[in-house]
Amino acid sequence: MRTYLVTGGAGFIGSNYIHYMFEKYGGDIRIINLDALTYAGNPENLKEFENAENYTFVKGDICDRELVTKIFAENDIDRVVHFAAESHVDRSIVDPGVFVQTNVLGTANMLNCARAAWEKADGSYPEGKRFLHVSTDEVYGSLPEDGGYFYETTPYAPHSPYSASKAGSDMLVRAYMDTYHFPANITNCSNNYGPYQFPEKLIPLMINNALHGKKLPVYGDGKNVRDWLYVRDHARAIDLVQEEGKLFETYNVGGHNEKQNIEIVEIIIDTLLEELPVDDPRRANVSRDLISYVEDRKGHDRRYAIAADKIREAVGWEPETCFKEGIRLTIRWYLAHGEWMEHVTSGDYQKYYESMYANR
Ligand code: NAD
Ligand code: TYD
Repeated sequence: MRTYLVTGGAGFIGSNYIHYMFEKYGGDIRIINLDALTYAGNPENLKEFENAENYTFVKGDICDRELVTKIFAENDIDRVVHFAAESHVDRSIVDPGVFVQTNVLGTANMLNCARAAWEKADGSYPEGKRFLHVSTDEVYGSLPEDGGYFYETTPYAPHSPYSASKAGSDMLVRAYMDTYHFPANITNCSNNYGPYQFPEKLIPLMINNALHGKKLPVYGDGKNVRDWLYVRDHARAIDLVQEEGKLFETYNVGGHNEKQNIEIVEIIIDTLLEELPVDDPRRANVSRDLISYVEDRKGHDRRYAIAADKIREAVGWEPETCFKEGIRLTIRWYLAHGEWMEHVTSGDYQKYYESMYANR
């Protein structure tokens, strides 16, 4: 039975990954989920596994050397899948410090603890130990509107404190692979969407606001382009890279699905109107009139687009869920999980929303 240490498993992508892994491997794997439960972590995302014998939740910080060392000492960890991070660009613009702390120093601590647990006296590592660092396409910077793609060889050029801190963490993983032959992979993925995404990010924020008849704040001219991938496809890519990818390699993961932000907002409105029953009172709230252009994000990257050829050729991965289907599945999930949304948008979220959007 393989044992996984997943960090940040109570967040958006981590919890989707844990769902995917238990569906795929059932009782053949054991997962330990280390998560600090920041504003973005929600144990409700994993409530069906709470009592499972092969699932353990540890509330703790990836920067805590003693705790992470203890987890490695008490468990024979085969795989680390490292999601834990501060992940929202707008927050990084307001408060970059915690991004450096968690994303750079936290990753350094995870690498140090894994290396200390795994490395043998002769500098080699036991067969089957693998560390996967989950990163973002934002480390590559911004592409022109009229062409080009991010390849694994594209030089790093991050612009936000978030992407700079992720770039720093990627560089540390690369350095450990080069210096210590540390058994790792890096995946750089494009924007994800799907169930359990916190409503500070574009898609769930727009769904939630539209349902409440609140303005839909589109930054700048709304023509920034992102390459959207359904989160389950990302989970499958991570598993394939860990099981079949070549150690020490970086793989780009992307959706072949470039869309301007304004197109996304319009698709959300149209799909909500198709999915909401005619007698649902929220229908009356949903309208394109809610779209409101607001002050642009500082340093706003214009376009991201991933070339995912390498991962296709190496492990046969391609996205399986087209955007039309994925956004419908996502909207159905949010409509069916109003209580989840209510829980995550109470209290602190209200304060966050006020401070981020009140003067925009
Ligand atoms: P998220 O913000 O939804 O979740 C992050 C999780 O990490 C939360 O559960 C949080 O509690 C936990 N966490 C934060 N600080 C911690 C700490 N110090 N110790 C332990 N746990 C901590 O993020 P996400 O969108 O699920 O992203 C997961 C990873 O994927 C991140 O590394 C992110 O950079 C990367 N990524 C995200 C996207 C995307 O579109 N969301 C795309 C590509 C890559
Ligand atoms: P976001 O979901 O924050 O992801 P990222 O910045 O990591 O790509 O934003 C996606 C795009 O949507 C980005 O171009 C910024 C834009 N955006 C808005 O126009 N309005 C919003 O309220 C938010 C949160 C994002």
